[in-house]
Amino acid sequence: MLLKVILILWWAHYCYADIRLPKILRPCKLSDHKCIGDNLAANSFCKIKKNGYLPSKYVQESLHFDTPYFNASYIDHNLIIRNQDKCYVSEFFFNTQTDRVVLSLDCPNLDLESDRTFIQHRTYQEDTYYHYHIRGVYPMIHITMNFPSMDLCSASIFTDVAQMPKFHIDPKNKPTANHLAKDLSYLHIFERENCHARGPGLAYKFIDSLICDYGCPVPK
Ligand SMILES: *[C@@H]1O[C@H](CO)[C@@H](O)[C@H](O)[C@H]1NC(C)=O
Repeated sequence: MLLKVILILWWAHYCYADIRLPKILRPCKLSDHKCIGDNLAANSFCKIKKNGYLPSKYVQESLHFDTPYFNASYIDHNLIIRNQDKCYVSEFFFNTQTDRVVLSLDCPNLDLESDRTFIQHRTYQEDTYYHYHIRGVYPMIHITMNFPSMDLCSASIFTDVAQMPKFHIDPKNKPTANHLAKDLSYLHIFERENCHARGPGLAYKFIDSLICDYGCPVPK
Protein backbone atom coordinates (compact mmCIF):
# COMPACT_ATOMS: atom_id res chain seq x y z
CA MET A 1 0.00 0.00 0.00
CA LEU A 2 2.72 2.42 0.98
CA LEU A 3 4.60 1.62 -2.21
CA LYS A 4 1.48 2.40 -4.22
CA VAL A 5 1.15 5.82 -2.60
CA ILE A 6 4.76 6.58 -3.22
CA LEU A 7 4.46 5.53 -6.84
CA ILE A 8 1.39 7.70 -7.35
CA LEU A 9 3.07 10.66 -5.74
CA TRP A 10 6.14 10.09 -7.87
CA TRP A 11 4.01 9.84 -10.97
CA ALA A 12 2.09 13.02 -10.12
CA HIS A 13 5.35 14.79 -9.56
CA TYR A 14 6.69 13.50 -12.85
CA CYS A 15 3.62 14.68 -14.80
CA TYR A 16 3.72 18.07 -13.17
CA ALA A 17 7.35 18.49 -14.11
CA ASP A 18 6.59 17.33 -17.62
CA ILE A 19 3.81 19.86 -18.24
CA ARG A 20 5.79 22.81 -16.98
CA LEU A 21 9.01 22.87 -18.92
CA PRO A 22 11.87 24.09 -16.84
CA LYS A 23 12.72 27.68 -17.57
CA ILE A 24 16.44 27.14 -17.86
CA LEU A 25 17.66 24.31 -20.07
CA ARG A 26 21.22 23.03 -20.08
CA PRO A 27 21.04 20.41 -22.80
CA CYS A 28 24.76 19.84 -23.35
CA LYS A 29 28.04 19.01 -21.71
CA LEU A 30 30.10 22.17 -22.14
CA SER A 31 32.88 20.29 -23.93
CA ASP A 32 30.41 18.81 -26.44
CA HIS A 33 30.59 21.25 -29.35
CA LYS A 34 28.46 18.98 -31.52
CA CYS A 35 25.59 19.03 -29.03
CA ILE A 36 25.83 22.82 -28.65
CA GLY A 37 25.96 23.22 -32.43
CA ASP A 38 22.91 20.97 -32.92
CA ASN A 39 20.94 22.97 -30.38
CA LEU A 40 21.86 26.32 -31.93
CA ALA A 41 21.17 25.07 -35.46
CA ALA A 42 17.73 23.78 -34.43
CA ASN A 43 16.65 27.36 -33.78
CA SER A 44 18.60 29.32 -36.39
CA PHE A 45 20.19 29.21 -39.82
CA CYS A 46 23.75 28.66 -38.61
CA LYS A 47 25.69 25.90 -40.36
CA ILE A 48 26.97 23.18 -38.05
CA LYS A 49 30.74 22.78 -38.01
CA LYS A 50 31.55 19.10 -38.36
CA ASN A 51 35.33 19.18 -38.17
CA GLY A 52 35.76 22.71 -36.94
CA TYR A 53 39.27 24.08 -36.64
CA LEU A 54 40.77 27.14 -34.99
CA PRO A 55 44.50 27.68 -35.48
CA SER A 56 46.71 28.30 -32.46
CA LYS A 57 47.91 31.46 -34.22
CA TYR A 58 46.27 33.64 -36.87
CA VAL A 59 46.55 37.21 -38.10
CA GLN A 60 43.81 39.81 -38.31
CA GLU A 61 44.60 42.70 -40.64
CA SER A 62 43.41 45.40 -38.26
CA LEU A 63 41.26 46.20 -35.25
CA HIS A 64 40.08 49.65 -34.26
CA PHE A 65 39.08 50.36 -30.68
CA ASP A 66 38.27 53.42 -28.59
CA THR A 67 39.04 54.06 -24.95
CA PRO A 68 36.66 56.93 -24.14
CA TYR A 69 37.89 57.32 -20.59
CA PHE A 70 41.36 58.14 -21.92
CA ASN A 71 40.16 60.37 -24.78
CA ALA A 72 41.96 58.02 -27.13
CA SER A 73 41.54 55.60 -30.04
CA TYR A 74 43.77 52.79 -31.18
CA ILE A 75 44.37 50.76 -34.31
CA ASP A 76 46.07 47.38 -34.11
CA HIS A 77 47.73 46.55 -37.43
CA ASN A 78 48.73 42.96 -38.26
CA LEU A 79 47.16 41.74 -35.07
CA ILE A 80 48.59 38.30 -34.26
CA ILE A 81 46.21 36.29 -32.07
CA ARG A 82 47.70 33.28 -30.30
CA ASN A 83 46.15 30.65 -28.02
CA GLN A 84 42.54 31.33 -28.96
CA ASP A 85 42.29 27.60 -29.61
CA LYS A 86 42.74 27.17 -25.84
CA CYS A 87 39.43 28.94 -25.14
CA TYR A 88 36.62 26.70 -23.95
CA VAL A 89 32.88 26.98 -23.41
CA SER A 90 32.26 27.77 -19.74
CA GLU A 91 28.46 28.22 -19.75
CA PHE A 92 25.63 27.37 -22.12
CA PHE A 93 21.92 27.55 -21.41
CA PHE A 94 18.59 28.51 -22.94
CA ASN A 95 15.88 30.41 -21.16
CA THR A 96 12.66 29.02 -22.66
CA GLN A 97 10.62 31.97 -21.43
CA THR A 98 12.77 34.76 -22.86
CA ASP A 99 14.05 32.64 -25.79
CA ARG A 100 17.56 33.78 -25.07
CA VAL A 101 20.79 31.85 -25.15
CA VAL A 102 23.68 32.50 -22.79
CA LEU A 103 27.00 31.16 -23.99
CA SER A 104 30.30 32.07 -22.42
CA LEU A 105 33.93 31.37 -23.21
CA ASP A 106 36.91 31.32 -20.89
CA CYS A 107 40.21 32.09 -22.58
CA PRO A 108 43.46 31.40 -20.75
CA ASN A 109 46.73 33.00 -21.86
CA LEU A 110 45.34 34.82 -24.86
CA ASP A 111 48.39 36.35 -26.52
CA LEU A 112 47.97 39.47 -28.66
CA GLU A 113 50.72 41.16 -30.66
CA SER A 114 50.44 44.11 -33.03
CA ASP A 115 51.88 47.29 -34.48
CA ARG A 116 49.67 49.76 -32.71
CA THR A 117 48.71 53.31 -33.57
CA PHE A 118 47.61 55.33 -30.57
CA ILE A 119 45.52 58.42 -31.37
CA GLN A 120 45.20 61.01 -28.61
CA HIS A 121 42.18 63.32 -28.87
CA ARG A 122 42.00 66.78 -27.28
CA THR A 123 39.19 69.32 -27.36
CA TYR A 124 39.67 71.92 -30.17
CA GLN A 125 42.92 70.31 -31.23
CA GLU A 126 44.26 68.11 -33.94
CA ASP A 127 44.75 64.44 -32.94
CA THR A 128 48.26 63.28 -32.11
CA TYR A 129 49.49 59.93 -33.41
CA TYR A 130 51.95 57.61 -31.72
CA HIS A 131 53.29 54.26 -32.87
CA TYR A 132 54.58 51.26 -31.01
CA HIS A 133 54.83 47.50 -31.10
CA ILE A 134 53.06 45.64 -28.32
CA ARG A 135 52.68 42.07 -27.18
CA GLY A 136 50.45 41.23 -24.24
CA VAL A 137 49.38 37.99 -22.59
CA TYR A 138 46.05 37.93 -20.77
CA PRO A 139 46.01 35.23 -18.06
CA MET A 140 42.21 34.94 -18.18
CA ILE A 141 39.33 36.63 -19.95
CA HIS A 142 35.66 35.66 -19.80
CA ILE A 143 33.46 36.45 -22.81
CA THR A 144 29.71 36.20 -22.15
CA MET A 145 27.27 36.28 -25.07
CA ASN A 146 23.53 36.84 -24.64
CA PHE A 147 21.53 36.40 -27.81
CA PRO A 148 18.11 35.47 -29.19
CA SER A 149 18.56 31.88 -30.35
CA MET A 150 18.05 32.92 -33.96
CA ASP A 151 20.91 35.32 -34.18
CA LEU A 152 24.37 35.37 -32.68
CA CYS A 153 25.33 38.44 -34.73
CA SER A 154 23.05 40.65 -32.62
CA ALA A 155 24.39 39.32 -29.31
CA SER A 156 25.35 41.53 -26.45
CA ILE A 157 28.92 40.54 -25.69
CA PHE A 158 30.47 41.28 -22.35
CA THR A 159 34.20 40.80 -21.97
CA ASP A 160 35.56 40.55 -18.48
CA VAL A 161 39.31 40.85 -18.08
CA ALA A 162 39.61 38.68 -15.00
CA GLN A 163 43.35 39.18 -14.58
CA MET A 164 45.45 42.04 -15.91
CA PRO A 165 47.78 41.22 -18.80
CA LYS A 166 51.53 41.25 -18.78
CA PHE A 167 52.89 43.11 -21.78
CA HIS A 168 55.97 44.29 -23.53
CA ILE A 169 56.08 47.56 -25.50
CA ASP A 170 58.60 48.83 -28.05
CA PRO A 171 58.03 52.50 -28.94
CA LYS A 172 58.83 53.25 -32.59
CA ASN A 173 60.18 56.74 -31.91
CA LYS A 174 61.22 59.19 -29.20
CA PRO A 175 57.96 61.20 -28.90
CA THR A 176 56.06 57.96 -28.46
CA ALA A 177 58.50 56.75 -25.83
CA ASN A 178 58.11 60.03 -23.97
CA HIS A 179 54.35 60.05 -24.21
CA LEU A 180 53.54 56.48 -23.16
CA ALA A 181 52.14 56.36 -19.67
CA LYS A 182 54.40 54.95 -16.99
CA ASP A 183 51.55 55.05 -14.50
CA LEU A 184 49.64 51.79 -14.73
CA SER A 185 47.12 52.45 -11.98
CA TYR A 186 44.40 52.93 -14.61
CA LEU A 187 45.29 49.77 -16.49
CA HIS A 188 42.11 47.98 -15.41
CA ILE A 189 39.99 50.73 -17.00
CA PHE A 190 42.04 50.68 -20.17
CA GLU A 191 41.83 46.90 -20.48
CA ARG A 192 38.08 46.87 -19.90
CA GLU A 193 37.55 49.41 -22.68
CA ASN A 194 40.10 47.73 -24.93
CA CYS A 195 38.65 44.24 -24.52
CA HIS A 196 35.09 45.48 -24.92
CA ALA A 197 36.02 45.97 -28.58
CA ARG A 198 37.83 42.62 -28.84
CA GLY A 199 35.04 40.43 -27.45
CA PRO A 200 32.80 40.25 -30.54
CA GLY A 201 35.61 39.32 -32.95
CA LEU A 202 36.94 36.64 -30.60
CA ALA A 203 33.48 35.26 -29.85
CA TYR A 204 32.36 35.09 -33.51
CA LYS A 205 35.63 33.49 -34.57
CA PHE A 206 35.31 30.76 -31.94
CA ILE A 207 31.62 29.95 -32.48
CA ASP A 208 31.73 30.25 -36.27
CA SER A 209 34.89 28.11 -36.53
CA LEU A 210 34.15 25.42 -33.98
CA ILE A 211 30.45 25.18 -33.21
CA CYS A 212 28.01 26.62 -35.72
CA ASP A 213 28.70 29.18 -38.43
CA TYR A 214 26.45 32.24 -38.22
CA GLY A 215 28.70 34.19 -40.60
CA CYS A 216 28.89 37.14 -38.24
CA PRO A 217 31.19 39.85 -39.63
CA VAL A 218 34.33 40.29 -37.54
CA PRO A 219 34.72 43.97 -36.51
CA LYS A 220 37.80 45.65 -38.02
C1 LIG B 1 40.01 63.58 -21.14
O1 LIG B 1 39.70 64.89 -21.51
C2 LIG B 1 39.07 65.64 -20.49
C3 LIG B 1 38.67 66.97 -21.10
O2 LIG B 1 39.78 67.61 -21.67
C4 LIG B 1 40.01 65.79 -19.31
O3 LIG B 1 39.39 66.50 -18.27
C5 LIG B 1 40.39 64.39 -18.82
O4 LIG B 1 41.35 64.49 -17.77
C6 LIG B 1 40.96 63.55 -19.95
N1 LIG B 1 41.15 62.20 -19.47
C7 LIG B 1 42.35 61.66 -19.29
C8 LIG B 1 42.37 60.26 -18.72
O5 LIG B 1 43.39 62.22 -19.59
